[in-house]
Amino acid sequence: MSAAPSSTLRCIACQHEEPTTTARFRCSACGDLLAVEHDLETLAAKLGGVDVAKGRFAARRQSVRLPDISGVWRFRELILPDLPTDNIISLPEGNTPLYRRRQLARWAGIRDLAIKHEGENPTLSFKDRGMTAGVSWANHVGARRVACASTGDTSAAMAAYAAAAELPAVVLLPHEKVSAEQLAQPISYAAKVLALETDFDGCMALVRELTESGEIYLLNSMNPFRIEGQKAIGIEVIEQLGWRAPDWFVIPVGNAGNISALGKGLRELHALGLIDRLPRVAGAQAQLADPFYLAYKDTFTERKRIQAGVTIASAIRIGDPVSYDKARQVVQSFDGVVTEVDDDTALEAKAACDAAGVHICPNSAVAVAGAARLRAEGTIGADERVVVIATAHGAKFASTTLPYHLDASLPGERKNPPQVMEATLERVLEAL
Ligand code: F0G
Repeated sequence: MSAAPSSTLRCIACQHEEPTTTARFRCSACGDLLAVEHDLETLAAKLGGVDVAKGRFAARRQSVRLPDISGVWRFRELILPDLPTDNIISLPEGNTPLYRRRQLARWAGIRDLAIKHEGENPTLSFKDRGMTAGVSWANHVGARRVACASTGDTSAAMAAYAAAAELPAVVLLPHEKVSAEQLAQPISYAAKVLALETDFDGCMALVRELTESGEIYLLNSMNPFRIEGQKAIGIEVIEQLGWRAPDWFVIPVGNAGNISALGKGLRELHALGLIDRLPRVAGAQAQLADPFYLAYKDTFTERKRIQAGVTIASAIRIGDPVSYDKARQVVQSFDGVVTEVDDDTALEAKAACDAAGVHICPNSAVAVAGAARLRAEGTIGADERVVVIATAHGAKFASTTLPYHLDASLPGERKNPPQVMEATLERVLEAL
């Protein structure tokens, strides 16, 4: 007989329980979001003591074998404890660096500033962490086909993991609203790519209808199993800080899955005694795609839905975040804040990071600029320890980086265009 399961699937509003094998990710009683709930006593027993667990997580990192070398699955007791390791689909992912750059700390006015660079994952975004969990679970429950709506990064990750699992994949993208590099990824990974004449929210509504019957397995972050993998970002940062929480996490918010995952993971670490205090959490949005910020400003009295405008932060151009309720709970229970920045401010933050050797995407730059704004306003103290989560790599967004540097008609304090010249030593020396 197999052991009793460590986790259940439960509605975040009415607590109704759904089977963990379901492919329907709305509560059948009230329609709200579902979450994986771990039995913390069982988890604590599996961990076998706080110090033993920390030692085991670190030891696995030295391994050369899957799943231990994955920065998600080396924490597997905290991720999906009921998933047999044979069902894991890993590229592998995670184990990303935490960068500290003095010039960036000076620029932001935050002495202890670190950037967790999730762009250094296999498909160049943080989505790989959630996707290894989502696709592994899909594999475990026998899904035959998977689908997602995306602003570009979820689709890249899903297509790569589905290819590894030999699962057919369907991607719904807003036509001409993702970068060229992001479009190239699912195409190359052999997913069926449908470019729809709508925005992300339109794609999201359609993919929900498409997957309603459960025949096609939904892999957006509405899928609570993805959230479990995504938690590993926060867990890994805490490990990198010697199992101490920073004062702040600052994170870009789009569909609001990532901030929900961060909060859930931190809460569990705290409950299990792996950290002794909780950090504060700050969400950052782009000014023209800021429904979560607007709701926060209104003390979350009501959920805001907007039509998101054009922004360089195209991956977070979302008007109606699906995980709103989970994200609101995180901000409220972590003494959190939400901020927003305009595109020009985000571009300068991106240029500052890039020039420090940490090449980030415009969406991550919203969080870096958000941290600087919160510091300037005094919300974040100069001596507080701040970790900003950079969600994707700058290499996916050359169409934003190049105009900033090359187009003299656009603003930019750090423009660094290449100089074209005759191929002689004389000209080269002149240029130096
Ligand atoms: N940063 C990047 C680079 C993203 O791709 C996303 C989301 C976010 C931040 C925001 O994370 O949605 O969990 O709040 N991208 C999704 C996608 C929507 O389809 O790739 P979130």
